[in-house]
Amino acid sequence: MCYSKGSLSLAAIALALTSVVGADYVPVLYAVGGNATEEGLTAYTGQSITLDSTSPVLTLDYSAEVLGFPYIEVEAPGSEVQVALKFSEPYGGLSMPYGDGPYLFVDGLADGFRTVTFNFTTQDRIEAFVAQGGFRWQSIVLLSDGPLTITGVGLRPLVEIKDSSDLTGNFTASNSLFDQIWSLGARVVQAACYEAGTLAPTWQITDQGALIPGQFPAVSALGGGWSDYTLTFSTKITQGGTGWRVAGGIMGGYGPYFVLTASEADLGSDGALSLERNSLVAGYGFSFVNQILLSSATPTTFPVDMPIHVGEWHTITTAINSTGYLVSIDGTEVAFVESSGYQGYVNGGWGSNSLTSGTFGFGPWLNQEAYVTNVTVTGSDGTMLYENDMTSNDTLGEYSIDTNSYNVCLDGAKRDRSVWIGDFVHTARILATSTGGYDMVKGMIEFEFANQVSEGDGDGIVPISAYAGSKPEYRNNGAVWPGALGEADYQFLFLLVLGDYFAQTSDVDGLKAHWSEIDRLVTKTIGRWLDPVSGLLANSEASWFLAQGQQNATAPTALLAASFTKLSQVAMVIGDTDKATTYASYASNFSTAINSQLWSDSLGTYSNSLSDASTGSLNAISFTIIAGIADADKATKSIQSLDNFLVIIGYKDLTSQASSSSTQLSPNTQGFLLDALFLAHINLGVSADIVLPAIDTMLNKFWSGMVNQNEYYTGTSWEYMLADGSPWAFPFDSLGHPWGGAPTYVLSNYILGVRSEWNETTSSFQWVFDPAWEIAEGLNLTQASGRMPLSSGGYIEASWSLPNTMSSQVVDNDQVQVLTRPRS
Ligand SMILES: *[C@@H]1O[C@H](CO)[C@@H](O)[C@H](O)[C@H]1NC(C)=O
Ligand SMILES: *[C@@H]1O[C@H](CO)[C@@H](O)[C@H](O)[C@H]1NC(C)=O
Ligand SMILES: *[C@@H]1O[C@H](CO)[C@@H](O)[C@H](O)[C@H]1NC(C)=O
Ligand SMILES: *[C@@H]1O[C@H](CO)[C@@H](O)[C@H](O)[C@H]1NC(C)=O
Ligand SMILES: *[C@@H]1O[C@H](CO)[C@@H](O)[C@H](O)[C@H]1NC(C)=O
Ligand SMILES: *[C@@H]1O[C@H](CO)[C@@H](O)[C@H](O)[C@H]1NC(C)=O
Ligand SMILES: *[C@@H]1O[C@H](CO)[C@@H](O)[C@H](O)[C@H]1NC(C)=O
Ligand SMILES: *[C@@H]1O[C@H](CO)[C@@H](O)[C@H](O)[C@H]1NC(C)=O
Ligand SMILES: *[C@@H]1O[C@H](CO)[C@@H](O)[C@H](O)[C@H]1NC(C)=O
Ligand SMILES: *[C@@H]1O[C@H](CO)[C@@H](O)[C@H](O)[C@H]1NC(C)=O
Repeated sequence: MCYSKGSLSLAAIALALTSVVGADYVPVLYAVGGNATEEGLTAYTGQSITLDSTSPVLTLDYSAEVLGFPYIEVEAPGSEVQVALKFSEPYGGLSMPYGDGPYLFVDGLADGFRTVTFNFTTQDRIEAFVAQGGFRWQSIVLLSDGPLTITGVGLRPLVEIKDSSDLTGNFTASNSLFDQIWSLGARVVQAACYEAGTLAPTWQITDQGALIPGQFPAVSALGGGWSDYTLTFSTKITQGGTGWRVAGGIMGGYGPYFVLTASEADLGSDGALSLERNSLVAGYGFSFVNQILLSSATPTTFPVDMPIHVGEWHTITTAINSTGYLVSIDGTEVAFVESSGYQGYVNGGWGSNSLTSGTFGFGPWLNQEAYVTNVTVTGSDGTMLYENDMTSNDTLGEYSIDTNSYNVCLDGAKRDRSVWIGDFVHTARILATSTGGYDMVKGMIEFEFANQVSEGDGDGIVPISAYAGSKPEYRNNGAVWPGALGEADYQFLFLLVLGDYFAQTSDVDGLKAHWSEIDRLVTKTIGRWLDPVSGLLANSEASWFLAQGQQNATAPTALLAASFTKLSQVAMVIGDTDKATTYASYASNFSTAINSQLWSDSLGTYSNSLSDASTGSLNAISFTIIAGIADADKATKSIQSLDNFLVIIGYKDLTSQASSSSTQLSPNTQGFLLDALFLAHINLGVSADIVLPAIDTMLNKFWSGMVNQNEYYTGTSWEYMLADGSPWAFPFDSLGHPWGGAPTYVLSNYILGVRSEWNETTSSFQWVFDPAWEIAEGLNLTQASGRMPLSSGGYIEASWSLPNTMSSQVVDNDQVQVLTRPRS
């Protein structure tokens, strides 16, 4: 599992894409038998393993989240032998037909399928062209009698993942559970963040056109506004079939999906859907299969009269009209796919708003592969809208599947693999405290501003869920706006990222360079969403993530107040006193508006919103404390009201949600709460007795569940957990989600006690060493030590032990000083 890449220049990284860099990830444990197994695995040390009819299944355990290009090396089999590879984060995904997938929201520069078949006829090494996103478990299932002798198996890494003990940042305390919880965040940011130029395109551009292996279709950034058009392209199947979309969503392609299969035998699979030969298969949704939340219309199969062969070119035309899609091959009509049955699946959030409008794209089904060239789109009046022979590598950018041009962090290592900017608040702080990945944070800021909408109704808005391969030239084409309205407060979470980044780096030049872009974003959002009557955020066009969609809600408004307070500090350091005053004034007005309208004596905390006054909100508690809106009295009462949110092991988002063992609990929102509890103690003087029960519950009952359940363990933090401790929505839940990793920075900032604080007197940030002694004692810790990476190089090393011994030093950095606050 060790792999070293050294430091390469950007150009060198781009060149290195096609060659092996460093050592591979190899499994740690394996077992051979009639079925996948979680028990009785033994050490894998590269020995040859033979699969045969009595022992057809190889189970592989990589021990923690890894990702990259899967490969297998074999001795020459007697005859053709196929094996199905399956991948999963939790063990249970190995008994599902598609592994723990398919995860089909976007292309994500990784395989949307979690299974793939390799076909061996000679001594060979086969490596998948498309990378697998994060997983811990793999199986290899023999699809015929065999035997097949495997001489090597593993992954060519997509990214280097170091053990937590090898990072610049470090945390260790007298309770090793906390070290393991700290490591969840340290690992997950490595699995979900990628330096510029490290993600590989999922198509190959050749002089015959694009060669596209089976995968989630990637869509053109150009077709979002087109409707009632005819798509024509030439295609040559090299394995199984060819696939395409029309009238699909600009952010992922959700919509109609078509696959044409060849008459030749397909590759096998372990129970996955197999398509009829020489047929057209049509469906609607993300895919042909339902995967928990991702509903798809049952696919319809249309036999095709003319022979379709591997290796032959055919021209396919798909004409959209108001009742369906007419598919012709080489000028002959082969099927009219009626759209009336799809009406119930139209979803303006995921796809386009209608059955006849939206973009087009390409992506064959599982285990298939085909060339695509000579693509044209003509409007209903015969106008030529689009022509592309798909032989230029520029095409990759247009379909958002070129290598990432910026450092980017995705929301999850396996799913959604989108740049969800709201999730990044936690990610950025974890990066700072663990890997010291400040360049990653800076890259994300560059990425967001490069893709900021620059004209029209959405001018100033930044993307909330961009593709990793997004190219700024397409930022005004509908992928950013109006979709950003779906979670309008993600704009403010991005502003918070900017403030946090500045607190940790004091990077004046970095933020000055974006000062006018920040102002455009602020002007846009305030102008549009500040309600003049309530003084809160409200506009029926917008929905609010932190308030479950509610208007005039506490949490989104408090979040914006927190962001403005931080931006006001940036403005002060930059020397823009006008902005410093304005931002502070907004923050103060939001504080007044919230305290005068949203405090509820009967709840003992803030209401979720004006119209949902009888519901308590976890995010309202967290963000009123983070923003300094709650005073000591209100903060104390709010924290005491947490009992009304407790469901067995953790805290639900709203008091109005039902409590049961299957209540969904969010590590994202509880991460904000964890931060807020320490801030209440440190900034407002709320006593340790008041904050300890919730801190204890979250660390020792909630996050401990990500560490001590082997069947789900990935060494990385999760997207959601149910109140019984199991992952939410198996097998859909992402068990490699940075938004779930807040304890990493919370433990470093408050238990180790090294953090950057605003100093009112000097109007600047300073590093302090100031552990929350009473909380640490309440958690039964006697000692902690660790390292805090610095953006200007080097790190702060610190340690303490009870009752009051402290020592610290700054290593490899002569600019930074640390203010040690002795225990009083
Ligand atoms: C493998 O497990 C499945 C259920 O998980 C069972 O149906 C099947 O019979 C098992 N196969 C073998 C060879 O044991
Ligand atoms: C921090 O460093 C110490 C000393 O090298 C090590 O024992 C510990 O495991 C590290 N902490 C983590 C979370 O890896
Ligand atoms: C596209 O780029 C890849 C990777 O650099 C290269 O191998 C391929 O030849 C290029 N294709 C064309 C048609 O230029
Ligand atoms: C497996 O590979 C062999 C050798 O390339 C080929 O002849 C055979 O058609 C392939 N099988 C399938 C099902 O594609
Ligand atoms: C759509 O096209 C089909 C196939 O050509 C045709 O039968 C149908 O009448 C058309 N619908 C409309 C509303 O024109
Ligand atoms: C693509 O179009 C070009 C130009 O018209 C033509 O020469 C070529 O044969 C076409 N390719 C296919 C596979 O039809
Ligand atoms: C927000 O509250 C104000 C004051 O009660 C009200 O006038 C306004 O309509 C509300 N906005 C929305 C979108 O509900
Ligand atoms: C805050 O409220 C005061 C009093 O209503 C008003 O004068 C001021 O302009 C507001 N601040 C901002 C930035 O709008
Ligand atoms: C703020 O900085 C000054 C000057 O370095 C220092 O004396 C003071 O203690 C700092 N204030 C706090 C609250 O740390
Ligand atoms: C700390 O230790 C005491 C005594 O063993 C125990 O009663 C208490 O539950 C522990 N507290 C925590 C937060 O682990």
